[in-house]
Amino acid sequence: MAFYPFIAAEQAYPRNQWYVAAWSHEVGEAPLMRMIAGERIILYRQRSGSVTAVSALCPHRQMPLETAEIVNDQIVCPYHGAAFGSDGVCAHLPFQKHVPAGMNLKSFHVVEHAPFIWLWVGAEELPDLNRLPSARSLQPEDGRTLLFGLKTFHVQARSQIVLENLFDQSHISFTHPLTLGQRCTANGPTRPSEIIDEENYLAFLRLSSPKATDEALHALFPTLSAQMRIRSRSELFGVGLVISAGSEIIACDEEGEPTSSMGDLVFFHAITPETEHSTHYFAGIMRNFALNDQDISNSYAERNDQVVSEDIRILEAIEPHLVEADARREPNFVTDAAAVRVRRRIEALMGNTPVRCACEPACEA
Ligand code: FES
Ligand SMILES: [Fe+2]
Repeated sequence: MAFYPFIAAEQAYPRNQWYVAAWSHEVGEAPLMRMIAGERIILYRQRSGSVTAVSALCPHRQMPLETAEIVNDQIVCPYHGAAFGSDGVCAHLPFQKHVPAGMNLKSFHVVEHAPFIWLWVGAEELPDLNRLPSARSLQPEDGRTLLFGLKTFHVQARSQIVLENLFDQSHISFTHPLTLGQRCTANGPTRPSEIIDEENYLAFLRLSSPKATDEALHALFPTLSAQMRIRSRSELFGVGLVISAGSEIIACDEEGEPTSSMGDLVFFHAITPETEHSTHYFAGIMRNFALNDQDISNSYAERNDQVVSEDIRILEAIEPHLVEADARREPNFVTDAAAVRVRRRIEALMGNTPVRCACEPACEA
């Protein structure tokens, strides 16, 4: 049986892919235990600064290594003192020279691209660097961009519905009426003006109609023209990193034609399966204006926490009802087109070419 919301795939999420395991700042010299894609893992930083990820239970008697001491980059089991190298190989036993078979920890491939630590989920021999998501706009350019409000959330819901929610524009007025928008259909989603569909990247770009610049924006951007537009983008990098509601403020001439970009504000989300039915949700914000204004950082970060919590409340309400659900029987709205396109893309990556449901909306620019 297909795993909801897929209609052909029986898996909950694609393997042989890179997922965010942690923020860079979360991993230090003490072990951080986290379950990723059903595997309990510990992550820690060696003296050289590089990050190690190995299985979290000592093979001898299943002692969790979360509380293990790290001595000279080796993990020392708190129960009987077995010591493991950063490659997971058991290097020392306190009471005997011979290391019995089966004493090694499983080691995982990790790549750190700040602010993320990526973990390869899949066949050990196949870490494919071409699949490593590369979101250039999130790499801090010295002094020109600011990443802030970085938070780790936990969602008791499957990762695919968390991912699709980020491409679902029509929920915004109803799930986030106080934080993001009013219950007004006039504020409804606009069709994308451009779609970019590449092997490791999918983007929906939208350009709003020109509107009069309000006072709050004038205060932030004193040289902003009397008319402005917002260029927004929803992007999927790899299978789990999303920039959603990335908004660029565009100055316009008197005819409403875009002239220059004034500032960029991006909300990004890394979605990582914890188990088939639960998800790690890493949320953060990037901006390239008013970099020293702590009040702006605080107010955006506070609002984003609220927005993510509102989404989580909805997703956790839905999850218990999905065991019996059949996506083939669900009607789709016109506004579901982008989310369904993401679903089909992920499903195809799992080796399934699903037959489209008759009611599926087409997503075209
Ligand atoms: S449980 Fe780890 S050495 Fe015994
Ligand atoms: Fe939302």
